[in-house]
Amino acid sequence: MTGLEKAQAIRQRKNGLRLATLTAYDYPTARLLDEAGVDLLLVGDSLGMVVLGFPDTTQVTMEHMLHHTAAVARAKTKAIVVADLPINSYDTPDIALANAQRLIEAGADAVKLEGGIRQAEKVRAITEARIPVCGHLGMLPQRVLEEGGYRKKGKTPEQSAALLEGANALIEAGVFAIVLESVVAETAAQLTKDIPVPTIGIGSGGATCDGEVAVVTDLLGSYPWFVPPFAQPEADLASSISQAVTAYRGRVQGS
Ligand code: KIV
Repeated sequence: MTGLEKAQAIRQRKNGLRLATLTAYDYPTARLLDEAGVDLLLVGDSLGMVVLGFPDTTQVTMEHMLHHTAAVARAKTKAIVVADLPINSYDTPDIALANAQRLIEAGADAVKLEGGIRQAEKVRAITEARIPVCGHLGMLPQRVLEEGGYRKKGKTPEQSAALLEGANALIEAGVFAIVLESVVAETAAQLTKDIPVPTIGIGSGGATCDGEVAVVTDLLGSYPWFVPPFAQPEADLASSISQAVTAYRGRVQGS
């Protein structure tokens, strides 16, 4: 299947089987998640924190994204591979298109960028070049420094209306799905009812959206130094690694 066909299939899941989405940043993880049946693999710029050790996503570059997207793409997954356009890589429609093309050449099926109305022209430039785009509304991690922290969105009728306006602008520009991050549950559920493309929630309530996305290290318990309050770990890899290394050290050192 081409990237466009995969994106079309995701779009058709509106009101269907919910979309199971996880981030992936490397080849073995991408293979394992794909073999376990995940629908979307997101090469998220969250890799800045959970792989590269930065405090937030604002230092992630195109070079980082290309390197990790290529690694994930080598897994040749059935799941659609969506790569994040990092901060400052989509400042104008021309720059957005050029960088989206670089991510596609690195092996992504689609790209994702953050924001609503002010990004619509950039989304349109990319979709007109037949590159699928996923939107991202609500809390926008690339704006954490401007906003002075991570804040819940969709708390007031005005904020909810702004989210709907942003979603409609993105849909008009051709997105196949929209991530809703840290949106109040009732607002996320209403937005999901109101728009024709699938919503994929994170920190936006239980089953309020057409699917969920989780950062893979939150699911696997492999990044114990910061766990967001909404995370629901299904494993404790940090403890498993610690036990394995202690056993190995004992074997090597005879203690
Ligand atoms: O970068 C990322 O992992 C993301 C998800 C949190 C949606 O954008």
